[in-house]
Amino acid sequence: MPRLFVTFEGGEGSGKTTQLARLAERLRSTGLDPVLTREPGGTPLAEGVRSLLLDSALDTDPMAEVFLMEAARADLVAKVIRPALEAGRVVLCDRYADSTLAYQGGGRGIDLELLRVLNRAATSGLVPDLTLLFDVDPKIGLSRRGAEGRTNRLDREPLAFHERARSQFLTLARAEPERWTVLDAGSALEPLAERIWARFQEVAQALRR
Ligand code: TYD
Repeated sequence: MPRLFVTFEGGEGSGKTTQLARLAERLRSTGLDPVLTREPGGTPLAEGVRSLLLDSALDTDPMAEVFLMEAARADLVAKVIRPALEAGRVVLCDRYADSTLAYQGGGRGIDLELLRVLNRAATSGLVPDLTLLFDVDPKIGLSRRGAEGRTNRLDREPLAFHERARSQFLTLARAEPERWTVLDAGSALEPLAERIWARFQEVAQALRR
């Protein structure tokens, strides 16, 4: 099994975190020891930044939000993701640079080319081998999230913001179909987990060649 970097993207309440845990379990059952991480977060600095970013009491300026996301990302890539890949491990990351293009780009309307430059700087050009998009109608996702009783500053953005983020994700997926796999987040848990496992194996095989 080669080193492999998989990212999980999608809207709020799309079930991606549950599926990330399922894939990790499956990998462990085959004897692998994947590294699980998330954005924003995953290092002491980035977790500190995360709590600022998600704090509903703060009225965060959109460009300040971008720089905080990128600062957290730079620390995570340098300290966790790159070293793990260099050690030959599989890395599963809950959100990554594409979330900035969807939320700060699609959602807030910040220039995509600027965000791409900043993403490249923060990641030193590290692109995932596979990105899974858990596509969900934000009306459904947000109501799931609300029912769990844990909404953060970004969840509270208006529905139209989340709709723009969703359509940006779909645009990104269409532009780079070899990296992205679009999944219907409304599918039942088991079939979805099977589809993800099959896709993971395909990508792993292709990289081995
Ligand atoms: P989280 O509670 O982890 O949401 P989810 O479970 O849906 O992943 O909060 C992360 C929030 O941060 C989420 O609303 C998406 C947002 N976000 C951005 O706006 N830009 C980014 O670059 C990243 C990584 C996340």
